[in-house]
This record gives sequence, C-alpha cells and structure tokens, in this order.
Amino acid sequence: MTIKATTLSDLPAAASQLVTFAGAEKIFLFNGDMGAGKTSFIKSLCEALGVKEAVTSPTFAIVNEYRGADIKIYHFDFYRLKNQTEALDMGAEEYFYSGNYCFIEWPEKISDMLPLHCINVSLKVLNDNSREITIEKI
Ligand SMILES: Nc1ncnc2c1ncn2[C@@H]1O[C@H](COP(=O)(O)OP(=O)(O)OP(=O)(O)O)[C@@H](O)[C@H]1O
Ligand SMILES: [Mg+2]
Repeated sequence: MTIKATTLSDLPAAASQLVTFAGAEKIFLFNGDMGAGKTSFIKSLCEALGVKEAVTSPTFAIVNEYRGADIKIYHFDFYRLKNQTEALDMGAEEYFYSGNYCFIEWPEKISDMLPLHCINVSLKVLNDNSREITIEKI
C-alpha cells in the first residue's frame, strides 16, 4: 500500500491506516534516508495507539519505552550502532519477542537480527513538505 504526498498534517490519518493494515503484527521497520520522516511518523503512530507522553528520537539511548492504551511500545534508533553485537548486548531480541510493539529506525543496522515477519514502512522525500509512504508485510 502506498500513501502518496503525505504532509505533516496527513500523518495522523496515515498512522490510523497503518495500524489497521498491521492487524496483529507488532514489529514495524522504518526505512528511509536521514530526515525522511521516520521519527515524525512514529510520533503519530504512538498517538494513534494512545501514547500521551512525549515521543522523541532515542538516538542516544537506542531505545525509548512508551505506554499507550493497554499496550507498551519500544522505539529503537539503531543509527549509531557500531555492530550487531551491541544490539544483542542491549537485549534487542528480548524486546522483539516480548509481544509488545517495536518501532525500529535504521533496521538495516541489525539486518541479521530482525524477526521473520514485520511490517515494512518506507519513507521517501517528495519535496520539503511531503513524503511518500509505502507499507508492506514482509
Ligand atoms: N510527512 C512529512 N511531510 C513533511 N515534512 C516532514 C514529514 N515527516 C517529517 N517531516 C520533516 O522532516 C524533518 C525530519 O523528520 P524526522 O526527524 O522525522 O526524520 P527521520 O527520518 O526520523 O530522521 P533521522 O534519520 O535523522 O532519524 C523534520 O523537520 C520533519 O518536520
Ligand atoms: Mg529519526
């Protein structure tokens, strides 16, 4: 599914579409260049799932945890990861198989550790004000 020309104000609607599309699947990979809009879309997604607290980039912490309506979300940013051993050491696999939502920025940094079935979200910059969002089950 492709959601074309998504501006910042379209993100809440796009997030609802994604939640419906995902169904029971809870591992989401966010692909896209630096500044493509991964964190912004995750923010809207967290709001759609009932998160009231601030959603910020976990670049330095690697993982942030949020609570929504009866659910827990782990938000990862692996951009600064040096190698996959570092992800193993922080217990990434325990998070992935915990049954909670996992939203992963820069999943290519841990390609060997990713669960078999995920929702793949790709963001592409169209221009300063809009993005194209492609969503698929893998
Ligand atoms: N759908 C959108 N339409 C227009 N602008 C957007 C959209 N999504 C994000 N932006 C803008 O793009 C910039 C970068 O967004 P964001 O931090 O979400 O990107 P990112 O992919 O998480 O970047 P990084 O790779 O550094 O983590 C921000 O200024 C944000 O406001
Ligand atoms: Mg980001």
